[in-house]
Amino acid sequence: MLNFMKGSIFSRRQSEAVPREPEQEVKVLAIWGSPGSGKTTVSVRLAKYLADHKYNVALLLCDMTAPMLPCICPPAELECERSLGSILAATHITDILVKQNCITHKKIDHLTMIGMLKGENVFTYPPYTQELASELIDHLRDIAPYVVIDCGSAIANDILSAVSLLEADTVLRLVNCDLKSISYLSSQLPLLKDQKWDADKQYKVASNVKFNQAGEHIEQVLGSVAFKIPHSDELENLALAGNLLGELALKDSRGFRAEIAKIAKEVFGV
Ligand SMILES: Nc1ncnc2c1ncn2[C@@H]1O[C@H](COP(=O)(O)OP(=O)(O)OP(=O)(O)O)[C@@H](O)[C@H]1O
Ligand SMILES: [Mg+2]
Repeated sequence: MLNFMKGSIFSRRQSEAVPREPEQEVKVLAIWGSPGSGKTTVSVRLAKYLADHKYNVALLLCDMTAPMLPCICPPAELECERSLGSILAATHITDILVKQNCITHKKIDHLTMIGMLKGENVFTYPPYTQELASELIDHLRDIAPYVVIDCGSAIANDILSAVSLLEADTVLRLVNCDLKSISYLSSQLPLLKDQKWDADKQYKVASNVKFNQAGEHIEQVLGSVAFKIPHSDELENLALAGNLLGELALKDSRGFRAEIAKIAKEVFGV
């Protein structure tokens, strides 16, 4: 599997990359990092932040091993059940195909989501190519002014996440304040470096930072980071209840909400 991937995505020639216009504004943000670091949580809450502020946002959930839609809100709050798999099963991607397979939320008007449904896995649909994944990202740019992509950690065997990472305008690279998380990133980053991945387009983020990890300790372990997203018990409870899009009202979540607002301002300028 790894070799197969090395022969495809991770061997793309640099000359094929289309240079981005320097003045182009950030539209596509990929959120990536070590396993369990909070990628899905941060993606969902950033998308919700934009939607709550009346900006249209598309949230792409790449996880095909554990479809995330069932964890985001109660099924009754979704308009319909459509799947990312139906998009990736096509020979070519069109705006209409993408729009037909977007899932909207009954109460959050400005949010549209694309992901795998409960019970589906990577074998539910035919295999897709790197080119098709790339077409999807391109079409998402037309669907919404802001696109947030929740990538899987394991880029070596997840085409959509790998392509998202390479093609996003900006990347948040999440890491927890522990050695396992750091070790994971050190093993994956060489894959991206081989791709001449533009390391300048990423922000290092310390995620789910617990009270006892705050302060200098983080910088000692992780080096300098652009953002520190604090842990929130209330958010953890929302996640346990399968309602990551729920409202955060308690004082304990203030730090988390403030950091999400800070990221939205820095990355999207909103
Ligand atoms: N800021 C936070 N406050 C409280 N809990 C958090 C926070 N960030 C993440 N978590 C919790 O950590 C766990 C992992 O989070 P999440 O599923 O978002 O990580 P992930 O990086 O998407 O994981 P995976 O690699 O499995 O896709 C979840 O239980 C989530 O509720
Ligand atoms: Mg996840």
